[in-house]
Amino acid sequence: MSFTIAIDGPAAAGKGTISKRLAAHFGFGHLDTGLLYRAVGRLMLTGTEPVAAAQALVAADLEAEGLRTAQVAQAASKVAAIPEVRAALVDFQRAYARRSGGAVLDGRDIGTVICPEAEAKLFVTASAEVRARRRFDELQGNGVQTDYETVLAETKERDHRDRTRADAPLRPAEDAVILDTSEMDIESAVAQAIAAVNATMSER
Ligand code: DC
Repeated sequence: MSFTIAIDGPAAAGKGTISKRLAAHFGFGHLDTGLLYRAVGRLMLTGTEPVAAAQALVAADLEAEGLRTAQVAQAASKVAAIPEVRAALVDFQRAYARRSGGAVLDGRDIGTVICPEAEAKLFVTASAEVRARRRFDELQGNGVQTDYETVLAETKERDHRDRTRADAPLRPAEDAVILDTSEMDIESAVAQAIAAVNATMSER
């Protein structure tokens, strides 16, 4: 049996943590689809043409070093605006979504484009200021030298690019449950996400 949970939303809204916790709670697999775009972005930075990189992408590329850097994040957001890059990554994501035993996929267009038939859809969001503060705290915790204003500007720049691109822009699916985590700690966000998925399971 396959059961797909689609989680979309902007960077640093809590999507990653919520997705991992949902997958653990329901015993499902988890695919962070941002890693696909990051892997292509990283290859572009080292000189590979992005469409060719996307077409040649293999699962092992998602475990490459350096995918989490700010530079790779911006490159990912740029290659993600290229329709041929997005097209080349569709089959991998859909195959994962249909794996037996259930799957959580998190990204920007899972509920709208990749898995419009997903059994459960969540759109996890928070204000740009709150998300930049969380990312800044995380970077500082990892010993990265930066300042809040820079992180806020990068957050807004990436949001703008992700929301205004012509192909598969970031937006909630009409049937997604919206979870605004601006005023929530991660435990309550996870609890609400689990409750939302349970509600769709009991409707079936
Ligand atoms: O979630 P993330 O920060 O790892 O994503 C990196 C970039 O990839 C993000 O700026 C937008 C893009 N992305 C996308 O366009 N579609 C997805 N399903 C996932 C990520």
